[in-house]
Amino acid sequence: MYYDPKLFEYLVPIMEGSGYISFVGERIKKMGATKVIIVHDKNLKELGIVDKVTDSLEAAGIKWVSFDKVLPNPHDQLCEEGSALAHKEKVDGIIGIGGGSAIDTAKGIDLLMNNPPPLSRYFGQITGRAGDIQPEPGVAFIAIPTTSGTGSEMTGMGTITMDGGKGEKRAIWPKLTHSKRLALIDPDILTGMPYGLTVSAGMDAMAHAIEAMTNLIQGPMGDSFAMEAIRTIVKWLPVAAKEPTNLKARTKMAHAAALAGVAFTNCGLHIGHSAAEIIGAVYHQVPHGNCCAAVLPATVEFAAKDKPEKIQMIAEAMGIEIPEGTSDEAAGRIVGDAIRDMNKKLGVKKVSDFGVTYEGLVTDEIAERIRTNPSSKTCPHPPTIEEIKALLADSLK
Ligand SMILES: [Fe+2]
Repeated sequence: MYYDPKLFEYLVPIMEGSGYISFVGERIKKMGATKVIIVHDKNLKELGIVDKVTDSLEAAGIKWVSFDKVLPNPHDQLCEEGSALAHKEKVDGIIGIGGGSAIDTAKGIDLLMNNPPPLSRYFGQITGRAGDIQPEPGVAFIAIPTTSGTGSEMTGMGTITMDGGKGEKRAIWPKLTHSKRLALIDPDILTGMPYGLTVSAGMDAMAHAIEAMTNLIQGPMGDSFAMEAIRTIVKWLPVAAKEPTNLKARTKMAHAAALAGVAFTNCGLHIGHSAAEIIGAVYHQVPHGNCCAAVLPATVEFAAKDKPEKIQMIAEAMGIEIPEGTSDEAAGRIVGDAIRDMNKKLGVKKVSDFGVTYEGLVTDEIAERIRTNPSSKTCPHPPTIEEIKALLADSLK
């Protein structure tokens, strides 16, 4: 077995509720902060969501500075730039608000508060294991997600692109301290999420849950979190997508993304995310969640023979009947087809819808990059080039 037995850790306290963003100032004050850096993208400021944070901070007497340079697929140099500002302004707290990119950038800044740069010193693997250097804890840190998918508000890791955005993605693992971390989930700020983002983020969370259950290092606690996430996503993602202002559906999806985040930060991911990372690195136009959704049916089928009991559990969570006597492979196909059907009904785009061709995707080079990607080490069995090519081909159909 590649991994040693590990603890199941639940290190991020969470506050979930409508209107809770107005408590952010008081909460970070209680965590010991007096001046914070708010990490976000420019769009969020235009939507007025950053103003809700600054209003709350000012009401609590907390000084603040804003770092609004967050981009998709954040890289190490961006985090170092944010960290330089944080040190110059002598902040003792960080608020990351946005999708996974904003929260992961904030994690990179947090890691560099009490540890020397460059950020690349702390790169570890995407799944399951930190780098060789164990960092010191950072400062008071609140993550406020504005999408429901990445689960980054609940995870220990952040995904950062190497070499100023030119390299591959690697994980950073800031030292988590219970008293210095908080996930603040407020469905009120999720109602403006457009249909496509709602669906791709929701299916990203579905992939986190399913890959957490079917990889090499999965465990029973993770199954409980992941199964509840799957049940919730199957029921509520279509509602949240079609009725953007439905607060109950938004709350359920935010909750499901957080549950899946706890599952995968403990139990890891595998071939689906490995493929999504490489496809996203080669074809930047394919959003992460879309990629994960497109490779998810084949990911389930890939794991079917290794993890038949987990396939049964996923089927149960999805409300699918698998007839008695069905072979393990056929059971995998039933669940895979149910996810294909879900993708179709939700209007999830295939990888080919982004202009990616069979000739450009199903190559020995891309398959080899996926095979050797760190996330592939937690696959339920070592993937062959042929299996990876089949998965890539399926994502185009
Ligand atoms: Fe993901």
